[in-house]
Amino acid sequence: MAHMLQDKKAIVISGVPGSGKTSIALLLSTVLGALYVNLSALSAVSCLLGSYDRCRDTYVIHEELLVNLLDNIILNSKTPVIVDSHYGELVPSYHVATVIVLRIHPEELLQRLLRSRGWWTPRKIAENVAAELMGSCTNNAVATYGPEKVCEVNVTGLTAIEAAKKVMNIIKGAAPCVTNIDWLEHNIPAEVLEFIAKHS
Ligand SMILES: Nc1ncnc2c1ncn2[C@@H]1O[C@H](COP(=O)(O)OP(=O)(O)OP(=O)(O)O)[C@@H](O)[C@H]1O
Ligand SMILES: [Mg+2]
Repeated sequence: MAHMLQDKKAIVISGVPGSGKTSIALLLSTVLGALYVNLSALSAVSCLLGSYDRCRDTYVIHEELLVNLLDNIILNSKTPVIVDSHYGELVPSYHVATVIVLRIHPEELLQRLLRSRGWWTPRKIAENVAAELMGSCTNNAVATYGPEKVCEVNVTGLTAIEAAKKVMNIIKGAAPCVTNIDWLEHNIPAEVLEFIAKHS
């Protein structure tokens, strides 16, 4: 069994939309023989989707019901559970072995979202690129689970397989678990900042 799992069952894969959570979590669950749980899909198929928030162009989920369902799924799972979600904080802390936050350079994220989410509004793309720039997913995860359970993985320029290997090394304890990515210390092209400013 992977080192980091120990007595806890859940590994949460977090990150902004487009960071590669689903691609990487599916690879990991195959390698670990783990149950894959996608929180967006779970809430949708369980009719837990709440009202539509026009302002944020997203659905408001029924958190309490989803947390209970998740709790039961993890309790009853005979294998480790990989939870794929950018609202990973819904997984009860007592189940969580580690939270892996995928970090991607905002420029690469912007290109990826423009390429793969053509139907999204520019505002939604800008909101997510800004969230990555500010490290929102890491901040949320640390606030909920504490810094010792949260590990960042820089996936910039990596294929999904390369990124999954990096995550596996952390889970196995072969690579350190750290949170030290601050894109504001890097060179962020003016076009990225202009896109955020223009569409926010
Ligand atoms: N390492 C990668 N390199 C290049 N493209 C990738 C990589 N990982 C994922 N992609 C592509 O980027 C897009 C987003 O990936 P994916 O759906 O896995 O992200 P996600 O974090 O699960 O997004 P969401 O939160 O919206 O579900 C997809 O088109 C996917 O094929
Ligand atoms: Mg996904």
